[in-house]
Amino acid sequence: MIAFQRTLLAQELVAALQGKALLGDAHNGLFLAAPRRTGKSTFLQGDLRPALEAAGVVVVYVDLWADARRDPGVLIAESIARALEAQLGVVARTAKKAGLDKVKVGGLEVDTSRIGKVDGLTLTDALRLLHANAAKPVALIVDEAQHALTSEAGEAAMTALKSARDQLNQPGAVKLMLVMSGSDRDKLLRLVHTAAAPFYGSQIQRMPPLGPDFIAYVAALIEAQRPDLRPVDQGLLQQSFAVFGYRPQFFMAALGQMLSPLAALTGRFEPALLEAAMQQQAQDEAQMESDYLGLKPAEQAVLWRMLEQGPRYRPYDAEALRFYRDKTGHPVSVAQVQKALEALRQRMPALVWKSARGEYALEDAAMHRWFEALVQAGRWPPRPGQEQLPFDEE
Ligand SMILES: Nc1ncnc2c1ncn2[C@@H]1O[C@H](COP(=O)(O)OP(=O)(O)O)[C@@H](O)[C@H]1O
Ligand SMILES: [Mg+2]
Repeated sequence: MIAFQRTLLAQELVAALQGKALLGDAHNGLFLAAPRRTGKSTFLQGDLRPALEAAGVVVVYVDLWADARRDPGVLIAESIARALEAQLGVVARTAKKAGLDKVKVGGLEVDTSRIGKVDGLTLTDALRLLHANAAKPVALIVDEAQHALTSEAGEAAMTALKSARDQLNQPGAVKLMLVMSGSDRDKLLRLVHTAAAPFYGSQIQRMPPLGPDFIAYVAALIEAQRPDLRPVDQGLLQQSFAVFGYRPQFFMAALGQMLSPLAALTGRFEPALLEAAMQQQAQDEAQMESDYLGLKPAEQAVLWRMLEQGPRYRPYDAEALRFYRDKTGHPVSVAQVQKALEALRQRMPALVWKSARGEYALEDAAMHRWFEALVQAGRWPPRPGQEQLPFDEE
């Protein structure tokens, strides 16, 4: 699997995090949103992390989706503790051998037996220690950060990170850099948009999808391997990539199939690639449609309301209850709504997301696009037996 390096983007973000960019407030926290599978984690780990390290920053990376069963607050604390342990390991072991149960690092007294333990230090102390011991700025990258809002410990960790940032950073001296990424802008917004939110006032940036430079790179690879295909039509490649939703994995897999010696392809591969992209899109939509049709009437009504209301969704207000009644043809009680929401949340994969404060949102923002497209086409709501089969010719 080839990985396209996004060095320029990484460098721009490093400068912004250091507070060197003219505009913006990334030094207060950088919030990046982009849809699933468009390459966020790959970029954060493969490009941003090394770029930060090259700039003399200690980097801690944690993906809150890596293990969805673990509490996000604990995952954050553990990732910091691990980095700290790697740094302090020698100091602590030496101290322990010498019979000392406390060491002084960076003006802080540390209980050596507690280093590496999550509850041993506050997050702020752990980050301060990491910074003091390394004598370098620290960057904490929290991937799928919106997941922190699904537990109280996660929320508390976010608040602690904000206070650590405020304590460590002074104007002109950024010691703690925070990078938060998420697959859903609306959920990430909950970290920044109300006065009670941990990072109130910060802006969410859209992480740009892979662009023409990626396409040019892929085209060059193809031309090098298959001189007979020169010149590759980059316009069609770019178009296919867009239809694949800027998801490199699907795009590359389809390309691999087209270019395989086993492919029974006559003629150019580019139009066939575009065709494959359109089929994939139709399949994704057919999947959402069949998921929707498989739900109970109350669940469908709840999901419909969420699709329609987006971030304004309130599950139990009078208008919502009236909506559920209209759609199902009978009154729906608050308890029934609760039950429906819970069922939507417990499905595998889950359709609904819930924050620790009891706010609900769709798990996958792609459903909104699907919904809008069907509404536009006058095909909403889907009806059984009317699914468009992915391979149907128009
Ligand atoms: N820069 C890249 N070059 C090539 N393939 C990539 C690149 N970034 C992502 N991919 C492919 O896309 C898949 C999804 O990327 P990932 O970073 O996990 O997305 P996200 O974190 O946004 O969900 C990866 O497994 C990889 O196959
Ligand atoms: Mg990811």
